[in-house]
Amino acid sequence: MNIESRLAQIGSQNDPVTGAVSYPIYQATAFRHPKLGQSTGFDYARTKSPTRSVLEAAAADLEGGDAGFACSSGMAALQTIFALFGQGDHLIVSLDLYGGTYRLLEKIMSRFGVTASYVDTGDLDALEAHYTPATKAVLIETPTNPLMMITDLEKVSAWAKRKGLLTIVDNTLMTPFLQRPIELGADIVIHSATKYLGGHNDVLAGLIVTKGKELSEQMAFLHNSIGAVLGPQDSWLLMRGMKTLALRMERHQYNSVRLAEWLLNHPAVEDVYHPALPHHPGHDVQKRQASGHTGIFSFRMKDARTVEPILRHLKLIAFAESLGGVESLLTYPAVQTHADIPEEIRRKVGVDDRLLRFSVGIEHIDDLIADLGNAIDAALREIEGE
Ligand SMILES: Cc1ncc(COP(=O)(O)O)c(C=O)c1O
Repeated sequence: MNIESRLAQIGSQNDPVTGAVSYPIYQATAFRHPKLGQSTGFDYARTKSPTRSVLEAAAADLEGGDAGFACSSGMAALQTIFALFGQGDHLIVSLDLYGGTYRLLEKIMSRFGVTASYVDTGDLDALEAHYTPATKAVLIETPTNPLMMITDLEKVSAWAKRKGLLTIVDNTLMTPFLQRPIELGADIVIHSATKYLGGHNDVLAGLIVTKGKELSEQMAFLHNSIGAVLGPQDSWLLMRGMKTLALRMERHQYNSVRLAEWLLNHPAVEDVYHPALPHHPGHDVQKRQASGHTGIFSFRMKDARTVEPILRHLKLIAFAESLGGVESLLTYPAVQTHADIPEEIRRKVGVDDRLLRFSVGIEHIDDLIADLGNAIDAALREIEGE
């Protein structure tokens, strides 16, 4: 079946007893054993819980993996994955990385002897240069956020396989509707499901999908042992959101491409970073490995003084720090999502005080253009009057 149908039908055929089309919330932590040595398949909710299991099976199916694991947040999912590694292990990680992942690696995993090198994972020579015998995995975000750098997943996972490394892909920005890294050779996919999968800025969740029996068993052990699992109510809320993923992504994509094109022609804007634009360096790879574009992109204003008044004058678009919801949000990465990344690294990757990141919602495109246009005009008037 096509992915649109599989999304719409998540959980709808999993309750043969009542036929409930919306899979029930099993708010239970303990499950009765029929008799000694027998189990219904559910014993204790940290290990396995019915509502979460339906979500986990859907995640594995959508990403083309063998097992899914629902976690209490995207960070919990990353922490669970990082528990695969220990003293002396080294990871190669995308340069323009989500700030929270950087913080987890540098402030916490470093205390367990795990080190990371931050590399443009789109550049095979750079990967080769940072590889050491201690390297155990490559962690890729593609596109990165906010600069939308693209990595060729097929090429890098083939390289990683030759070196005996795991390929881990944070697929938060793309979702399995647009990009399926496991089909391109990755071993593990992670999501902040708080974003597009949930889609409504109302549930915090993470998902892991693994490929291969041994890795799936290892992850099941870590998921249960660490215990940062998703509760039944949030599992249900996430499935409810995922049912409309295809429709939402189509609108996010349409709006973001239109806005990126509009901003590119605006005289106050220096550049727009959107893989749909032909001048974007990752345009061709993105076209090949994904079936479309996400709703995230960023743009750099010519004058840093315009940033504060633009954020203040927005009426429809919210100045807020998340992405992937139906509501449009504008983020100032240098002071919000990337504040934990040292300034010299931020500047190296181009996250400076003129850069804004747009998470384009599903509102009408004319309203979005009008709101942003008015805010930019008002900002320009203010700085002209200074
Ligand atoms: C790409 C990416 N990965 C992981 C995370 C962490 O997810 P969460 O906020 O659900 O813990 C985020 C959050 O913004 C993200 O953008």
